[in-house]
Amino acid sequence: MNIIDQIISSYANNKSPYIGEKVTITEHMIQTAMLAEKNNCSSNLICSSLLHDYGHFILENPDDLVSKEKDGKHEDLGYEFLKKYFVKNVVEPIKYHVKAKRYLARDVKYYRILSEASKVSLKLQGGIMDDKQAKEFEVNEFFKSSIKLRKFDEGAKKTGLKIKSINEYKNLLISKLI
Ligand SMILES: [Fe+2]
Repeated sequence: MNIIDQIISSYANNKSPYIGEKVTITEHMIQTAMLAEKNNCSSNLICSSLLHDYGHFILENPDDLVSKEKDGKHEDLGYEFLKKYFVKNVVEPIKYHVKAKRYLARDVKYYRILSEASKVSLKLQGGIMDDKQAKEFEVNEFFKSSIKLRKFDEGAKKTGLKIKSINEYKNLLISKLI
């Protein structure tokens, strides 16, 4: 199976809920991509949004594991796997989307809107960034796109929403292959 078909079948077959939320991982990622589209983001960022939690699928299918050290860090797993196939501008924001949450959580208003599950995982992911970490992150080339991705991510946990099919993103995925 080629990589695009493999990715599409992971989305089509996924039925497991996104940890602690009421939507599946597939629904969550498609909603994230739809928010990026709604906000007129670049095709790169729409594609990042669509793939941002792909690491969760890898955790479910250990055959796909690229690294033997299975530490459960879904952003790294997703990044390490996807970077073999997709352009840098698509995969880099994926690598940083957890850091972006740790950055954004410095703002009390943002912290308050996090779901309970997201607050719990924030702690496990290293907690809120301190000033030094935040300054370093701000100069990262992918800072802005990671922050945007993170905001769509938080908004993409809605139930009962009509969503696109993964097949509608096939051409986009193909267009971002290396
Ligand atoms: Fe997510």
